[in-house]
Amino acid sequence: MYNIAIDGPAGAGKSTIAKQIAERKGYIYVDTGAMYRAMALFLLENHISPEEPEKISEKCQEADISIVYEKGEQIVLLNGRNVNGLIRTEEVGNMASASSVNGDVRKKLVELQQKLAKEADVVMDGRDIGTCVLPDADLKIYLTASSDVRAKRRYDELRAKGEECDITVIKRDIEERDDRDMHREISPLRQAEDALLVDSSDMTIEEVIDRIIGLCDKEGGRHGY
Ligand code: DC
Repeated sequence: MYNIAIDGPAGAGKSTIAKQIAERKGYIYVDTGAMYRAMALFLLENHISPEEPEKISEKCQEADISIVYEKGEQIVLLNGRNVNGLIRTEEVGNMASASSVNGDVRKKLVELQQKLAKEADVVMDGRDIGTCVLPDADLKIYLTASSDVRAKRRYDELRAKGEECDITVIKRDIEERDDRDMHREISPLRQAEDALLVDSSDMTIEEVIDRIIGLCDKEGGRHGY
């Protein structure tokens, strides 16, 4: 199997880029953040707060999270229910960041991620893919951008959806999330020693994709079709 790991902070463009690389190479795209988001939704629906680690450890055992693909799109199932339409809110994202510090949550989701990567050629994005989930990935990318650029991209995205938002609040949220993801005890976000750094601050999506596909071809990545 050929595995590409893409890690980096919130809003660096990982999912947009990973999805398009998977499409071009004929690989399967695995969005691990969506799994942590589905778990966070489950905890929120059960009125559990991030300040209750024991309850999180206990309750997360009741969440059966699985992934199916329909027309190439990843669908996250939470106890059999398609939750794709419910996990993209700021509330769920912040809860995902907070609850993903929990070792029991991580253990459960990492096992699922490793199983998916054994079964198919994948492009997997997240925070700990190159360092923990797929330490032997064929190609590891650490994709980042300045927090100003990431906040502006998120702001434009929300405005395009017609949502009212304040760029200073978005930037503060992004920096808080980075801080938590980078400083947690278990599998914090960091660049793996053998990961290649791509800073997308001054690059277009196409440029980033071409750079990564170029690296993949150089490293011997095959087409999955
Ligand atoms: O990439 P995202 O914004 O959808 O991820 C939501 C949160 O999930 C992120 O703030 C931290 C957590 N996460 C993680 O801990 N490990 C991963 N591999 C992916 C996401």
